[in-house]
Amino acid sequence: MAQNPHGEAPARPFLPARGRRALSFVTAGVLAAAGVVALAGNAQAVGALGDAAAAKGRYFGTAVAANHLGEAAYASTLDAQFDSVTPENEMKWDAVESSRNSFSFSAADQIVSHAQTKGMKVRGHTLVWHSQLPGWVSGLSATELRSAMNNHITQVMTHYKGKIHSWDVVNEAYQDGSSGARRSSPFQDKLGNGFIEEAFRTARTVDAGAKLCYNDYNTDGQNAKSNAVYDMVKDFKQRGVPIDCVGFQSHFNSNSPVPSDYQANLQRFADLGVDVQITELDIEGSGSAQAANYTKVVNACLAVTRCTGLTVWGVTDKYSWRSSGTPLLFDGDYNKKPAYDAVLAALGGSSGGGDDGGEDGGGTGACTATYSQTSTWNGGYNGEVTVKAGGSGITTWTVPVTVPSPQKVSAVWNGTPTTSGDVMTVRPAWNGTLAAGASTSFGFTVTTNGNTSAPVVGACTAS
Ligand code: XIL
Repeated sequence: MAQNPHGEAPARPFLPARGRRALSFVTAGVLAAAGVVALAGNAQAVGALGDAAAAKGRYFGTAVAANHLGEAAYASTLDAQFDSVTPENEMKWDAVESSRNSFSFSAADQIVSHAQTKGMKVRGHTLVWHSQLPGWVSGLSATELRSAMNNHITQVMTHYKGKIHSWDVVNEAYQDGSSGARRSSPFQDKLGNGFIEEAFRTARTVDAGAKLCYNDYNTDGQNAKSNAVYDMVKDFKQRGVPIDCVGFQSHFNSNSPVPSDYQANLQRFADLGVDVQITELDIEGSGSAQAANYTKVVNACLAVTRCTGLTVWGVTDKYSWRSSGTPLLFDGDYNKKPAYDAVLAALGGSSGGGDDGGEDGGGTGACTATYSQTSTWNGGYNGEVTVKAGGSGITTWTVPVTVPSPQKVSAVWNGTPTTSGDVMTVRPAWNGTLAAGASTSFGFTVTTNGNTSAPVVGACTAS
């Protein structure tokens, strides 16, 4: 799409999201034991995104801006939902080194310490990028630029050593379009193709514990740009240049939709021996169409073993860099959008049982549907959906499944399908009764007709 580009120890040990959840149960138990009646109906957000993702071995993060942390609703939504944060602008070159060798980390530090206090992980974004680059950098000679680049990487990574799970070492170094060429930038123009390799080698010497990522946009499907990045990563792996992951920004809208080969593209990078991460996800739109697109992205990440996590590019539509496109999971009043429910459902979580103030908290979500691909062959695959009852027993359920065109469902078992347009709604084949927490599953066979994308499995409804 034509994108508008636009050393101390951790304060406390990292607690995975589920650790945080466990702590809240302990707290609730202590309060109950003390006879304090609290939390009923308004307890810890049920099914927070980070917890649901953690149950699938992934993180679920968001971009954060330091200047919004003081807004109570912003901070409480962040804290209730996410288990990883990326500073949206505060770690960029112009923010931390606006004049040469004079570093200011205060805004980024604020985000990192907030994250640490809440047991969230931090993604580092970004060390070497042509944008948000102070003017003094472009004025340097090649020799000076090389030393400034390596010094920048060293100083910033040293300051955050041990606190960052993954660093975007180089961001957006390739051109859009069919050339597959590098983008012109001070680094490319003065240091040549080798600047990326040099940046990664320097980064590894500074913080060997952080995953080192190459990050870009318009690389989400297979195209000339992603092919060029693929060739670079393959070459790096062959020659032992230290690279651990590739970030896919995933900024989508109607001009740049979720590619039909999104999952296949993630998989081919993973097959090179790197992790893949969805780093800046936002999808313009609203309602069920937006929700279905979010589902596709989450399902694709879950279907790729080496997709280690997702980050959405902001908490609320009102502060999004593409605010008019309302591309995020929470609206301007911090209400959960259908896209939120879709993401949570795709992660296998449930928004039922507790009301954290969101517009749809409580009442719904008496069951969840989780998709997995159970086998695949040339021309087809088998999918399985596990239906799980929530905190109460249910007597029947329905789950909508949409296979992407031109795929066709050729068989369904353990369920009764009815099809309308391209949506197949599956109900129990016989008795749909499930006790609280119990699960069942149905399966189906799909002929791919050349499209290997995962189906979109919608939210389970129960009665
Ligand atoms: C954007 C921020 O969201 C904006 O606040 C800022 O004005 C410009 O940068 N690709 C990236 C991100 O890697 O750093 C960009 O973030 C969005 C595109």
